[in-house]
Amino acid sequence: MNNFEFCNPVKVVFGKGTIARLSALIPANSKVLMVYGGGSIKKNGVYTQVIDALKGFSVYEFSGIEANPHYETCMKAVNLVRTENIDFLLAVGGGSVIDATKFIASASYYEGEPWDILAKGGVIKQALPLGVVLTLSATGSEMNERAVISRIETREKLNFASPLIFPKFAVLDPEVTYSLPPRQVANGVVDSFIHVIEQYLTYPVNAKVQDYFAEGLMETIVEEGRKVLQNPDDYDIRANLMWAATNALNCWIGQGVPQDWSSHRMGYALTAQFGLDHAQTLAVILPGVMTYMCKEKQAKILRMGEVVFGVTEGTTEERVRKSIQACEDFFLYMGLKTRLSEYGIKESDLDLLVEPMKRMGWKLGEHGNIDYEVARKILAMRL
Ligand code: NZQ
Ligand code: ZN
Repeated sequence: MNNFEFCNPVKVVFGKGTIARLSALIPANSKVLMVYGGGSIKKNGVYTQVIDALKGFSVYEFSGIEANPHYETCMKAVNLVRTENIDFLLAVGGGSVIDATKFIASASYYEGEPWDILAKGGVIKQALPLGVVLTLSATGSEMNERAVISRIETREKLNFASPLIFPKFAVLDPEVTYSLPPRQVANGVVDSFIHVIEQYLTYPVNAKVQDYFAEGLMETIVEEGRKVLQNPDDYDIRANLMWAATNALNCWIGQGVPQDWSSHRMGYALTAQFGLDHAQTLAVILPGVMTYMCKEKQAKILRMGEVVFGVTEGTTEERVRKSIQACEDFFLYMGLKTRLSEYGIKESDLDLLVEPMKRMGWKLGEHGNIDYEVARKILAMRL
């Protein structure tokens, strides 16, 4: 196991009826800006629950955060924060709303051009405190210090991280996920599964706690994921998926182990250029990364295949192939596509997709050996 130093300070409030706890979680007398998306919270009762819980606070609202949140929209919220002297941000939504809120929290105090936080690794020295009411379990953003923002003007999607953007608390009520459309449920299952893979499926460093924890999460996500679309109102399935997704990216399983994240980073351009949902990009790319890197990742592929998908028969090569196929079959079972051509993406589009990697000089993967040329080969395997 490698050395590590880590603190995750997010207070989790989990279970039915927990939105009512908000008034005790937000500091008294705060001027709160409630940040939300395109209106799902007004249809499923979450908006009313939040407003009821915030009686006694001075509450402002900023709505219209898009899926894959736009920098341009976030900057409008930054103006509101500055003019109204907001002192607490409350994100009510999925990963996009939470990430947007993290960016608003950082940009509100940033001296200089806030896009530099994403494009140039601009250091965040101060951020507004924020809290989360989660409505979609997928990204783990509710319990981590990361965010991903897109700039429409330049068709870029980039990430940033800072310990200052850990939420102060995350309210996780699985019942609010009943209203999710099947596509978002499936996206959440696949995204959270691949978060585990990005931290687990590298090479062994004899980190038993992290490996067993990761395997337990993958088993949970596959077991419950296979049931959820047929049983959308089952509380236990929703609760297990929600808690698994949070743990898949609250960064505990990634401590002391090598991490990959190449599928994630390669996927940004697919969203920025072709509008694919985040999880849709991953379901296409991950089988390519596993296949291309099957020698480097062999030990972990075999172990994942056996523990999660019961692959035990055949030669080493056969078991590696079957294990990769089992992952892809799971994504297909959840209703996601796994080929670029199914989204109308062609060989002639590949240069555009790897252009940001070339420009920024990214070298991805646990060995840092996936540059834009290798990425192009991996994408070509997924046409
Ligand atoms: O905007 P509204 O109307 O609320 O609708 C949303 C949105 O259209 C809807 N939705 C959310 N909760 C709902 C609901 N509809 C009905 N009932 C509910 N309870 O779902 C749609 C998708 O929401 P979004 O927040 O975009 O989805 P997700 O949580 O998958 O977030 C995706 C974003 O997170 C980033 C992705 O790149 C993408 O931008 N990620 C963030 C990470 C992080 N911060 O750690 C890590 C991830 O790997 C990921 O990159
Ligand atoms: Zn993800």
